[in-house]
Amino acid sequence: MRPRTMVDKEVSLAPITIETARMFPKWVDDQEVAQFLAHYHHIPDVTQEEEWFKKVIESNSDYVWEIRYQDKAVGISGIHQIDWINGYAITGTIIGDKTVWKQGIGKKSMILRAQFAFGDLPIRMLETHVFTANVASMKATDRCGYQTVGPIPGRYFRQGKEWEVMLKILTRQRFHQFHSG
Ligand SMILES: CC(C)(COP(=O)(O)OP(=O)(O)OC[C@H]1O[C@@H](n2cnc3c(N)ncnc32)[C@H](O)[C@@H]1OP(=O)(O)O)[C@@H](O)C(=O)NCCC(=O)NCCS
Repeated sequence: MRPRTMVDKEVSLAPITIETARMFPKWVDDQEVAQFLAHYHHIPDVTQEEEWFKKVIESNSDYVWEIRYQDKAVGISGIHQIDWINGYAITGTIIGDKTVWKQGIGKKSMILRAQFAFGDLPIRMLETHVFTANVASMKATDRCGYQTVGPIPGRYFRQGKEWEVMLKILTRQRFHQFHSG
């Protein structure tokens, strides 16, 4: 499905284009970008990425944007596996352009995505898994208002060891309270 464009000054979420989808394999070929992603072991090629692009555009349960900063695509943001009956969905964020990390783009993009989820869609709750070791993602999700439900020890296995993730949720009510005044 095609989401609408969401804007906060120099940061925006715009419906993903095929050109940005084609940049994804290059972004995740960088260990620093990919180390805390669920599909860390698999770097898609451009053909697989184009197939993924077609699938999400036609999907009834995904909204995917490109994250834009100063009019340049720097990453991808999504609302996935939308459960329309229960008003529940999973979120994910990747800023592939490392030169723009730590400038508030992750946090702002998450807030814009939540505004769309809770303002435009009948979603009540967003869920995400964050590697406890992923300080940037732990903080960006906190700043957006996500609450930590608790750890899932050993959820992922990579580099010969088990990795813990935090289950984090953001309810519509909490998001509105968190950002009111
Ligand atoms: C996680 C990610 C989206 C964060 O984006 P970002 O734009 O760099 O984050 P922000 O600038 O919004 O930072 C949010 C907070 O975290 C802090 N932060 C960011 N990177 C940090 C780091 N490496 N170490 C410590 N703090 C960090 C910021 O200073 C900011 O704190 P503040 O609100 O107190 O000022 C980005 O690093 C990324 O895409 N990483 C690779 C993919 C990934 O791991 N995705 C998440 C999967 S769950």
